[in-house]
Formats: sequence, C-alpha cells, structure tokens
Amino acid sequence: MNTSESNEMVVVAIDGPAGSGKSTVAKLLAERIDLPYLDTGAMYRSVTFACIAAGIDPEDRAAAAEVAKNMELRMETDGTVTVNGVDATTQIRGPEVTRAVSSVASHPEVRTELVSRQREWARRKGGGVLEGRDIGTVVFPDATLVVYLTASAEVRAARRAGEVADLDYDTVAADIARRDALDQNRETDPLRRADGALEVDTTYLTIDEVLDVLENRLEVSLNNE
Ligand code: DC
Repeated sequence: MNTSESNEMVVVAIDGPAGSGKSTVAKLLAERIDLPYLDTGAMYRSVTFACIAAGIDPEDRAAAAEVAKNMELRMETDGTVTVNGVDATTQIRGPEVTRAVSSVASHPEVRTELVSRQREWARRKGGGVLEGRDIGTVVFPDATLVVYLTASAEVRAARRAGEVADLDYDTVAADIARRDALDQNRETDPLRRADGALEVDTTYLTIDEVLDVLENRLEVSLNNE
C-alpha cells in the first residue's frame, strides 16, 4: 500500500487494554505500510520512571506534571528509551514503573503535555501509527483509521505472562485487571472505544489475520478520501 499518495497525513490510531495485541500489531502494521510508529504507553511509563528517579510520589499531581513538562525524552526506532539522559529501556517495563504508571497517567496535566508531544510527533513525521488508550478518542479523533483492539481477559493475561519471564499468570492477571479498572474509570480521557472505531477482537485471530483486516480497512479509508 502506498500511503504517500494521500494529500493529508495518514494517521492510524490503535487503542485497547493491556495485552490486546496493540504493540505487536501497531509495530508490524507500521512496517507494512511504511509509516513511523509511536508507543504512547512508553511515554507515560517514562514520566513514571522520571518521577521515581527524582524521588517524587507518582500520586503527587503537581510534581508529576512538572516532571512531564521538563522531561527530555528520546525514543529510538530500535525501542531504546532515554529519559533525561538515562537509558530507561528496561526499567520502564519493570514492576515498579508498571505498578505506578496508571496513577501518573490519571493526572490531567501529565496527559495534556504528552498529548501535545504526540500530536507534534505525528506532524513532524508527516503521519504515523500511534498506539495507546486515548489516541482515537482524544489525540487523533480524525485519524485515517481508528482501531479498538480487544481480547478476552484470560488471553490478555497469558500473552503478558509470556512476555515477562519471571512473572506467573496469576500475578499478571491481577495486575492487568487492576490497571484495566484504573484506565477505564479515571476521570480524564478514560480508555474507551472511540465512536466509529473499527473494533477487532484478537482472541482467536493470528497477528497476520489482524494485520490483514487493518490494512484492508485502511485501503478502503484512503480510497474514500
Ligand atoms: O500500553 P502500556 O501498558 O505500556 O501503557 C502503560 C500505561 O499508560 C497504561 O496503564 C495506561 C497508560 N496510558 C494512557 O493512559 N494513555 C495512553 N495513550 C497510553 C498509555
């Protein structure tokens, strides 16, 4: 597919709960259609990392907002994440950050700052595939394609447990359930399916099947522009 034929910038928004397949699908779709990819969850994780590194309580709304505004963040295409000059690639996925990230992501000022950086990223790149929790509802409601991925709670927990070697299924299942509840019930920009989003339940689909569905729908959207 040649996404450069379109006059407008092509943006694909992919939202969904943890373990729904967002990251894998977004990354591979971006490769297939030759657009840059942005993992916005890694941005919320980076603010959380920066708070912990500075000894700031992730619940402290004002302090977390300052950290977000001043954060120097570099995200390389190979997945390397540098926060305020420190390589945080491994730690942003670790248990300490994972436990505190929903709290940091609930602060409205943190969200405003990161949403603005995400829009700026897409403008600079001339489009892209962005994945997160509020891309289709808040960041790019007019995206070329808005996708909401789901999967059963059991399959999502099993996928996450498979990714992290030293975590067992029950621990991961409990953590996912806790984060889902926090992400879906927070006041600012809760996780929800955007109006008009293409909802894909990935429970029984292979990654290639999901990619085929999205690529076909994107092609239809581009042809209708
Ligand atoms: O996708 P992830 O598990 O790396 O995301 C980490 C947390 O960040 C998740 O619990 C919710 C939050 N998040 C968010 O609130 N908005 C986004 N656009 C992306 C992530």
